[in-house]
Amino acid sequence: MPESRPLNLIVSCAENRVIGRDGKLPWSIPEDWRFFQEKTAGQIVILGRICYETWPGAVRDGRRAIVVSSVPLEVPAGVRTAASLPAAIALAGGLAGEIYICGGQRIYEEAIAWPGPIRLYLTLVHAEVPGDRFFPEWRDRAWRQVARREGSDRHWRYTFLTLEP
Ligand SMILES: NC(=O)c1ccc[n+]([C@@H]2O[C@H](COP(=O)([O-])OP(=O)(O)OC[C@H]3O[C@@H](n4cnc5c(N)ncnc54)[C@H](OP(=O)(O)O)[C@@H]3O)[C@@H](O)[C@H]2O)c1
Repeated sequence: MPESRPLNLIVSCAENRVIGRDGKLPWSIPEDWRFFQEKTAGQIVILGRICYETWPGAVRDGRRAIVVSSVPLEVPAGVRTAASLPAAIALAGGLAGEIYICGGQRIYEEAIAWPGPIRLYLTLVHAEVPGDRFFPEWRDRAWRQVARREGSDRHWRYTFLTLEP
């Protein structure tokens, strides 16, 4: 049966669409990191191999990780692997919970074009930041703003947005 639950894309993104640099986040924003952890705890997280390898939390707090890789991976018991995003979504079909798409770049590019329902949890970081990984252009589509909250710390100003097509 095709997946009927929304794909929840969750991302923090600079104004110039940068999401990563040198394999890491280009910022450390504790409030955003907490938001990300709380949203995804207990849920299904779909993520690319590099994100999986660099985020030990993918298998903590009740998360069910599905790692996308073009090659067979050795993963601990309980972690699932898939050769493509559609295969990962099909695997998620057998699991209870919400589906969170956690990046990186190609996974987001494919997920935002998913023909089924999607929702975007976007933390927009109000800065132009150097980087080498990007979120796809989302502003060329009409979105309904479901929620919005401003935040800031000593270094960054950001807006938590929940958007639906
Ligand atoms: N700001 C944010 O919210 C956010 C979120 C996520 C990531 N990031 C940043 O983005 C960077 C990591 O993301 P990334 O884009 O470099 O890597 P990634 O998506 O985590 O991993 C890339 C790998 O995943 C596999 N993969 C991805 N898409 C695939 C597909 N459609 N089919 C088959 N395999 C696929 C491939 O693995 P194989 O090579 O094994 O085939 C590919 O080499 C870091 O800098 C990280 O901090 C930021």
